[in-house]
Amino acid sequence: MDPGGLRVNGKRLRNGLELMAEIGATPGGGVQRLTLSPEDKQARGLLVSWLEETGLDVTVDEMGNIFGRRHGKDDNLPPVMAGSHADSQPKGGRFDGILGVMGALEVMRTLVEHHVTTERPVVLVDWTNEEGSRFAPAMMASGVWAGKLERDWAWQRTDANGLVFGEELERIGYKGALPCASWPFHAYYELHIEQGPLLEAEGKTIGVPKGILCLHWYDIYVDGEANQVGPTPMEGRSDALVAAAEMILKVRELPAKMGGNMVATVGEIQNYPNSRNIIPDLVHFTVDIRSWDDELALRSWDDVEADFEAIATRHGCPLRVEERWRVQHNEFAPHLVGQVQATAEALGYSTLPMVSGAGHDASYAAMVGPTAMIFVPSIEGRSHVEVEDTTWEDCEAGANVLLSCVLQSAAER
Ligand code: GLV
Ligand code: MN
Ligand code: MN
Repeated sequence: MDPGGLRVNGKRLRNGLELMAEIGATPGGGVQRLTLSPEDKQARGLLVSWLEETGLDVTVDEMGNIFGRRHGKDDNLPPVMAGSHADSQPKGGRFDGILGVMGALEVMRTLVEHHVTTERPVVLVDWTNEEGSRFAPAMMASGVWAGKLERDWAWQRTDANGLVFGEELERIGYKGALPCASWPFHAYYELHIEQGPLLEAEGKTIGVPKGILCLHWYDIYVDGEANQVGPTPMEGRSDALVAAAEMILKVRELPAKMGGNMVATVGEIQNYPNSRNIIPDLVHFTVDIRSWDDELALRSWDDVEADFEAIATRHGCPLRVEERWRVQHNEFAPHLVGQVQATAEALGYSTLPMVSGAGHDASYAAMVGPTAMIFVPSIEGRSHVEVEDTTWEDCEAGANVLLSCVLQSAAER
């Protein structure tokens, strides 16, 4: 469980995370490193310089995924992989994603420092556009890598300003030559903050997720009839924003109505023309539905969509619905989940079995090969916010579990 008794260097891990947190630092103590932004480019540049310094073979694929490969004794064996993502939410936190990338780098640095040659090669990965906030959907480049999303379709995704993903990737210099296609791997580990309150509430250090909820994303467009707000009587209006407001409340009520074992959220909304003295004639909003039970998520959507239609009809507001993205719930490889748990305990850390409510590239990785995640506590359960925080000791603990898991898997023939 603890081969060689190796430990990561917690100070070096902290130092790297602090340097990364300077890139896109926000006044509230978080980071804003939207996918393919100048800040994402800068973080990639710093990461690549560290990968090269560590002696890794660095490659970039045509979706901008960055890989750093360390040779094993037998380079023909499928590698062990570890990583996460460096992009962030708008006004996001300093740990979401980047902890898993820097944790994997710390593993590599520890192996180099201690002259450890593993049986299998070890590959660090920084996946492009995990967040899906600037370019929907999330986990886009791991989805292409896993063969579950089309590369050309992904390249054509646009942001709110109409900028095109593939062009932006080229502009920041990260449209690589390597085809974005999976290869067999022996194990993929992703270290991540929990992003929820359970570990802290239970006083545990390492979360051991057995898998990830399904994620379903929808875009809703509600049309209204614009008019001068003063002279237009209240009766007979087709106010797109009022109709959308009723729909949003239906989303809020949905989990309780469907029996509770799911979450449903409207996180994004645009109102047009967005003038206080014009009746709104177009509203766009998003719906995010998650559950361990894929069927429940689908039934919930059917239910709320019927409510949307009734509301739209009552307001005389035509409705357009786009199914943006669906990824099924994913269960990690039981032998790796068990290994994360046993390893954490062997290292003296308390553990908690759980499921991940947040989406991760590990979802798509799990569709290719054996995958598991390692969670560390989020202070006050806050994430996707500037105050997102995790103690340095817990970061170090998570990286130690990652190191030990990578060593065990990379020693297997
Ligand atoms: C990704 O961060 C998600 O859970 O939406
Ligand atoms: Mn993340
Ligand atoms: Mn996130």
